[in-house]
Amino acid sequence: MKTDGTFMLPSASSTIAGEVDSLFYFIFYTAAILFVLVIGVMVYFVIRYKKKDNDDNLTSSVDHNNILEIAWTLIPAILVMVVFFWGFKIYMKMNVIPSQAMEIKVTAQKWFWSFDYPEGINVTNELTVPVNTPVKLLMSSQDVLHSFFVPSFRTKMDVLPNRYSMLWFEATETGEFDLFCTEYCGLSHSEMIGKVIVVTQEEYDLWVEKESVIDESIPLDVLGKDLFKKKACYTCHSLDGTRLVGPTLKEIFGSEVRHTDGTTAIVDENYIRESLLEPHAKIVEGYSPVMPTFQGQLKDREIDGLSAFIKSLK
Ligand code: CUA
Repeated sequence: MKTDGTFMLPSASSTIAGEVDSLFYFIFYTAAILFVLVIGVMVYFVIRYKKKDNDDNLTSSVDHNNILEIAWTLIPAILVMVVFFWGFKIYMKMNVIPSQAMEIKVTAQKWFWSFDYPEGINVTNELTVPVNTPVKLLMSSQDVLHSFFVPSFRTKMDVLPNRYSMLWFEATETGEFDLFCTEYCGLSHSEMIGKVIVVTQEEYDLWVEKESVIDESIPLDVLGKDLFKKKACYTCHSLDGTRLVGPTLKEIFGSEVRHTDGTTAIVDENYIRESLLEPHAKIVEGYSPVMPTFQGQLKDREIDGLSAFIKSLK
């Protein structure tokens, strides 16, 4: 199970987290000791050599001390080398991906994370992985620069458009871990939050099995409601009339919307389908063309589900 973090750091839940923390604490405590030493000696000198009212004698003019000068050059140089080689060792470990790692494709876009599994499963914002298994993430962005950061794993990597970046981790305990975007990517950057769900191998196998089949018995509007959450639609569309990045979905079905090009349309099933697959074909007046396409991410039944859900928001 997920352990607690410390006052300074969140739980250490991956194979490299402990090593990163050791180095962090080494740097932190070295800096703290040096700070106290330097400030302490400075304060002592200020008081010790303060000019006294009745004292007109000059202090002796010592301008050189070989031992002191070698010490304050050599000791910091050694400390810097220790930090360099220690850090380099951990850096190499973080960058050399184990060959047996399972691979998951990560796509970042404004403003959610999308994960594609080798089994053909596609999920949004919730990365489910087995514990004690190296996982390789092959990451790219659909639009601007994002960054994938899981504090409990002590791992972070920028996600770029037009090229892949890679990251790997091996979770050492089960539980739910925060996933943040740590590169400012526009208006809802702070909402680009996900979760890494670490489960046992048996639970993972069950999850894969469950996600692989489409359950036709789920009513369409329930499926749609579920997708609204799973695909992170709520980041940009409210259900209660609040204005977010995109128009609210409250009572939108059957209503007339005006577009930036002056045309109008009634929102029906076809309108919703087009909005999901070709979101930039029509832009509602007062909004910007920022919605990502869900082409290839939604099956027909799921589009029907979203239509049914939006229809139910009367
Ligand atoms: Cu994506 Cu910030």
